[in-house]
Amino acid sequence: MQALVKHLHAFATEVKLTEDEWLQGIQILTRTGHITDDKRQEFILWSDALGMSMLVDALAHQNASGATESTVLGPFWTPNAPRRAYGEKLFEQPGGTPALVRGTVRNTRGEPVVGAQVDVWQNGDDGLYTVQNEELPEAHLRGVYTTRDDGSYAFVGVRPVPYTIPHDGPVGAMLDAVERHPWRPAHIHMIVTAPGYQRLQTHIFDSASEYLDSDAVFAVKQSLLRDFLPRTPDDPETPAGVSGPWCLVENDLVLESL
Ligand code: BEZ
Ligand code: FE
Repeated sequence: MQALVKHLHAFATEVKLTEDEWLQGIQILTRTGHITDDKRQEFILWSDALGMSMLVDALAHQNASGATESTVLGPFWTPNAPRRAYGEKLFEQPGGTPALVRGTVRNTRGEPVVGAQVDVWQNGDDGLYTVQNEELPEAHLRGVYTTRDDGSYAFVGVRPVPYTIPHDGPVGAMLDAVERHPWRPAHIHMIVTAPGYQRLQTHIFDSASEYLDSDAVFAVKQSLLRDFLPRTPDDPETPAGVSGPWCLVENDLVLESL
């Protein structure tokens, strides 16, 4: 509290905060509270859009152990995603370019991690997450995969697209005021857990996406960029049920021991 008060006072002193500006600050916080409910968390969105979430992430994960780097959680993870089998589709209805994502989960000694849970969620080709569209089945574009005896996992998602963070509230007003855009580069979210290992919360970023150098929430790390390699339906590796063009993404993951 002493450090918080010290920096808060230093901020007000530095910008010569006026009474009007103080009141505007209170009103912004009040609007942030009013727009927040069990589906929308505008306080975390402030943290994300001000780079605070990524600073906390950097402070928590300073290791140079070779483990996969972490990044923001975002507001669209929900518990109880369906369990899915190796290689199964992540989507409940077609839309967008299918993307076969596969890789191996290992520890920092290079040993496969068997039975790790890989919880995946992503947006559809309309830019929306399933939780943002009540008409979609709850399981659409969400799933939990379990690594096999060799640590491998695979799923068929869709090529993600850039999308905007929610910007119809106080955070959006701030972005407008400072002439920042609300876009995030295309990515797939993952949380990987296994007994004895640190929980890994990360993304796969499409290396060809727009906005990699101006993510609205500062969450891009170069090590998380992956190529979405174009494939044709006559490719022998074409996943079952895919009849048009698709993409292949190789994404190995490394977990750090507790
Ligand atoms: C997301 O990637 O889902 C996200 C992250 C931070 C803020 C908004 C959305
Ligand atoms: Fe996202």
